Amino acid sequence: DGRRNRLWLGTPVDELRRMPKCRHPLPHLKVSPSHCVMVRTDLLREGEVPVPYPSKYRDAWDDVFVKMPCSDKNLFPVETEDGNTVQSRWDLICAALESECKSSLDIRDGILRYSAAHAKRWDFTALNVLCTDALELSEVQQLFEVLLPSMVQLALSAPRLCTQPIPLLKQRMNHSITMSQEQIASLLANAFFCTFPRRNYRKAEYANYPEINFYRLFEGSSPQKIEKLKTLLCYFRTVTESKPTGLVTFTRQSLTNFPKWESSRTLLSRLHITCEGTIEDQGYGMLQVDFANRLVGGGVTGQGLVQEEIRFLINAELIASRLFTEALDHNECLIITGTEQYSKYSGYAESYKWKKSHKDDRPRDEWKRRCTEIVALDALKYRHFLEQFQPDKITRELNKAYCGFFRPGMSSQYLSAVATGNWGCGAFGGDTRLKALLQIMAASESGRDVAYFTFGDAELMRDVSDLHTFLTDRAVTVGKLFRELKQFFNVVCKNCSGPRPDVSLYGFLYERLTMDPEPTDTENTDMTP
Ligand code: AR6
Repeated sequence: DGRRNRLWLGTPVDELRRMPKCRHPLPHLKVSPSHCVMVRTDLLREGEVPVPYPSKYRDAWDDVFVKMPCSDKNLFPVETEDGNTVQSRWDLICAALESECKSSLDIRDGILRYSAAHAKRWDFTALNVLCTDALELSEVQQLFEVLLPSMVQLALSAPRLCTQPIPLLKQRMNHSITMSQEQIASLLANAFFCTFPRRNYRKAEYANYPEINFYRLFEGSSPQKIEKLKTLLCYFRTVTESKPTGLVTFTRQSLTNFPKWESSRTLLSRLHITCEGTIEDQGYGMLQVDFANRLVGGGVTGQGLVQEEIRFLINAELIASRLFTEALDHNECLIITGTEQYSKYSGYAESYKWKKSHKDDRPRDEWKRRCTEIVALDALKYRHFLEQFQPDKITRELNKAYCGFFRPGMSSQYLSAVATGNWGCGAFGGDTRLKALLQIMAASESGRDVAYFTFGDAELMRDVSDLHTFLTDRAVTVGKLFRELKQFFNVVCKNCSGPRPDVSLYGFLYERLTMDPEPTDTENTDMTP
């Protein structure tokens, strides 16, 4: 049986659209009320490092922009003989980081010199283990003699590089930030040394933002922490050895209008499905889904090492989004264009290992961004399996995926396929068969084809492909499918005694759609060949 050995099914992958080939020419890169550009757009030259804009550091210290470590307002109280006064924290940061650093203990002491009292509880075991056990002697030498000093310089160049206040991408905003990879490197070096003010406790001001300072990365002694550190140090090594010359755009997309799923007459788009390969490797040039947390990056700087965390580690520039992206609401996503892959890895979760440095040679677009588009989409986390079949949950996931895939004003021919997989079905406990269908429906509605990576699951590949073929052969619309999913909830899930449906979702769909060709939905018949 040849089909049993098939590694992919559906449309051949080469027939799906990828960037840059399918691209619509970009308009000139320019500043607008909804686009903050942190470099001189008139001076962009191939192979040259972009020039920061404006030329002199401009500060902002309010609730609209990121509070920078180098701000004059970044002060801390000191007790003197004549009472209390304040001092510049940035001066202290510069002094602390520029002092001699010969061991992981020196890094710790440096960081603690400018961190508030509660930081004394921070634990630097992982950093210690890395320096004493995990690296070769020569690597440790290179770390302290070359890499760390360069990272310090990178961090301390923030006022020279990141001269423009960085807007916070808050909920309900449709806003983009374009910055250079060099600016991102400087921000991430600051994150490594934990210099961002107000970001070391999850309360008040930044309670609804991801963590940015790396202190939790140094904590504990699990092998995963060591591998995370290795991956990030590989990033810092690459960007300090030779400055990256590109740009990266971060776009928050918050939609208010969604398809009327119930009455949609859209037909399903094409599907390539494979049990081999990964979104990041075989999905190059496609819109790649990040199986995100509402706080983007999830546990990348702390615990957690699954799809999203791995992507943020190997494409480390993604981590910068944590500085300014407020928690995603149900109708929102974050689109990141232009990040580079710096590392290769093996394994997954507990078995994750940093493998080696990776040279990314994806072409760049007219805005000097690598043609890598990633969209952070947070699925819902389900505690009870049956929950996800509730119509309001189904609508939420459809809308979330649609928000990630839809590009206002862009016609289908210019849209790359979506590269996705078991979104929401690992840590978040979703059902792969339902989620595959929902993602195909959302992609169809937004005019995109789908490349689905089942991550080794050959049975899932066959099941989804068979259903997709069955549905397309019968010209079943998105609306019809949505109504059948509702029926599945009403007929099967509501009356279900156990924790899972007693009838399989796909079995139910086959039965319903074979028995009832839906004579009421006459529009369908027009489209059947
Ligand atoms: N390519 C294709 N498929 C993959 C890949 C890959 N590179 N990696 C994993 N999979 P999970 P979730 C498959 O658990 O359930 C994070 O902490 C694999 O089958 O990462 O949406 C986030 O920050 C895996 O089981 O996504 C969130 O907090 C499945 O995708 C949370 O996890 C799901 O991967 C999101 O959890």
